Amino acid sequence: MATPLLAQPAAGSDLLPVPVSERNGVLEVLTMRRDPFDFSTKRRDQYGEVFAMNALGVRMVMAYGAEAAGEILMNRDRAFANAPAWSYFIGPFFNRGIMLLDFDEHRHHRHIMQQAFAPNVLKGYFAEMQPVIADRVAAFDTGQVKLLEVFKELTLDIALEIFLGMELSKAEADRLNKAFIETVRAGVALVRKPVPGGRWWKGLRSRKILEDFFYAHIDAKRATQTPDLFSVLCHAESDDGHRFTDEDVVNHMIFVLMAAHDTSTITMTQMAYRMAEHPKWQAKARAQSQALGPMLEYDELSELTVLDNIMKESLRMCPPVPAQPRMAIKDTQVMGYYVPEGTMVAIPQMANHRDPRYFTDPDVFDPERFLPERAEDKGHRMAWMPFGGGVHKCIGLYFAGMEIKTIMHNLLRDYEWFVPAGYRFPMDYSSLPVPKDGLPVTLVRRR
Ligand code: HEM
Repeated sequence: MATPLLAQPAAGSDLLPVPVSERNGVLEVLTMRRDPFDFSTKRRDQYGEVFAMNALGVRMVMAYGAEAAGEILMNRDRAFANAPAWSYFIGPFFNRGIMLLDFDEHRHHRHIMQQAFAPNVLKGYFAEMQPVIADRVAAFDTGQVKLLEVFKELTLDIALEIFLGMELSKAEADRLNKAFIETVRAGVALVRKPVPGGRWWKGLRSRKILEDFFYAHIDAKRATQTPDLFSVLCHAESDDGHRFTDEDVVNHMIFVLMAAHDTSTITMTQMAYRMAEHPKWQAKARAQSQALGPMLEYDELSELTVLDNIMKESLRMCPPVPAQPRMAIKDTQVMGYYVPEGTMVAIPQMANHRDPRYFTDPDVFDPERFLPERAEDKGHRMAWMPFGGGVHKCIGLYFAGMEIKTIMHNLLRDYEWFVPAGYRFPMDYSSLPVPKDGLPVTLVRRR
């Protein structure tokens, strides 16, 4: 039987029609979640690098490979938009977050927000986070611990201190954390309606709690300048004198907290797993950390080269944002295939990161592939893209590197950790990729 096609290009066009897998959408998503690497290999073998499938209630064009990622993210004819694509998944909970804005409006907001991530401001966050992280890591429980849970709690606490810059009571911090977690979880709810007690309903309720919290404190934040993100967003001004409205600040705060949290937690969990699986790499990274004190100076970050390569390799093998969706807002093309207006398109960077055209033995953990003499990530500008690319490229990538390396630096100095021989990570790919078992390790204090 002939393969069905998405839509025929106009007569006389050189473009090819996109082949469609008409397999059941629910089964396809379940198969992909079970093993995304095997799934992508099999489907590419059958259809090629660009094909459409049913997934999560929509028809989605999968565009594999660095070349396709470049075409979509560089978006030269402004055919692909973020808002209609991301809103489908997280719109009600992260409405008007910067990633859900497009074109001129996005550029305007990004321009103002960029000031909260300028080098001198980053250095301020960096100095603030050093003692918080050193104290908190030193107080970790030892013995059998689930590192995913440990990292989650730590990054949320850091977010409250560094992003909010407020002294909160334990009860208030717990209330915010809970609201925040429920808002994040709602995006991947299977029942996407506000059924009382369900994830979606809890997400909407929690979004309201977060909004009320930020609105209640915004006047105080506008009144004085402090080095936290909340204050910086209240006072940031573009060259032409534009500032964020109260509503903008609240929407951006809620979005940035979400964008910063799970992504960093997942990266550290991956790094910790790889270093437990390969004790040689744990020892190498520790040797560099021991040469420095517990509180890092900003310039010392660049001395942690082993940790940097372990982070990059962990982000390659398991990028926390496994795919990026876009919506075609006019008829366009990807890699010579015709993509009609209204089509959802996905860039599957998790699979792209295993592309043997750029990475030797792509399934093997090998931090040295990032050494300058190999630089496999530079084979194509979209070969290694855990932080995305184009105008929506992660604005927090340097913040993420600072936070992750500071935490791992303290962990390496204070502890050793182990997994049993033969342990394998049971990954859950149903939303952002996390280990189902929370990564249980034996954590031993070093001194
Ligand atoms: C390892 C950690 C992180 C990873 C892997 C990551 C990944 C990403 C990716 C892939 C995107 C682009 C999504 C798209 O184009 O569809 C993105 C956007 C974004 N990220 Fe991150 N991120 C991380 C940490 C952070 C942190 C720590 C912050 C804030 C402090 C942050 C804030 C943002 C924001 C605001 C955007 C939207 C930018 C825009 O649309 O202009 N991220 N991130």
